[in-house]
Amino acid sequence: MKGVILAGGTGTRLHPLTRITNKHLLPIYDRPMVTYAIEALVGAGVKDVMLVTGGTHAGEFLRLLGNGHDYGLDRLFYAMQDKAGGIAEALGLAERFVARDRVVVMLADNVVEYSIDAAIRNFEQQPRGARILLSRVDEPDHLHHLGVPAIDASGRVTRIVEKPDDPPSQLAVTGIYLYDGDVWDVIPSLEPSGRGELEITDVNNWYVEQSTMEYEILDGFWGDAGESIDAYYAVNDFVRQNGANKSRPD
Ligand code: DAU
Repeated sequence: MKGVILAGGTGTRLHPLTRITNKHLLPIYDRPMVTYAIEALVGAGVKDVMLVTGGTHAGEFLRLLGNGHDYGLDRLFYAMQDKAGGIAEALGLAERFVARDRVVVMLADNVVEYSIDAAIRNFEQQPRGARILLSRVDEPDHLHHLGVPAIDASGRVTRIVEKPDDPPSQLAVTGIYLYDGDVWDVIPSLEPSGRGELEITDVNNWYVEQSTMEYEILDGFWGDAGESIDAYYAVNDFVRQNGANKSRPD
């Protein structure tokens, strides 16, 4: 299993903080945001990772992370995304690194309370397809800013709606995605969305249509620290008090 961490984009929702650095280098409690995603992957045994980033501060990642060994990685590769063309476009840059292996993708602004080890082990048992990690979100206003799945009576995902006006469930699609090798055939077939990006939700809906999309619902806290200044501070407050990437309690 290979890991891909996506740390590109423009970070406009955190302006002006992100005029002077990349969003994923801002601190969450006592260390830069991106290190939480690395810790999540390393804690789940994924030590062969590519980091995709872009923009004027891209070189700072090399300064922070180097060859990745200090963070428990065996190998750390870097890719440059020329412009913020979307999450799926950023992932496409990792095709040759992943080859036809399986891949766990993590958005570098996502932080989880508990280890994602079990989800990765479950995906290894899955014969093919994709797996997404969902999190319960009680406030409907929050769901308007996220991907939200519709789930039928048998518990299958029937579609995922990106930033819905009318959320079809109280579950958010987190920025942690597991894919088999089909993902490299799906990405080139995507058309840019209304916001001009190749959307990861379109990739996920392709797997939903093939009936090969599985999911699990995360226990504990999940946060997207890039969603807004308030979300950034909510994630900081949570991590300061409770930590992140912990072993799941028995
Ligand atoms: O955090 C979970 C949400 O992430 C999901 O619920 C949504 O379905 C998914 O589309 C995504 O929504 P966001 O609006 O939060 O995506 P955003 O544009 O903020 O990008 C999230 C991360 O992806 C960002 O921190 C870095 C990476 N990214 C993004 C873009 C647009 C890239 O590496 N390159 C890009 O071009």
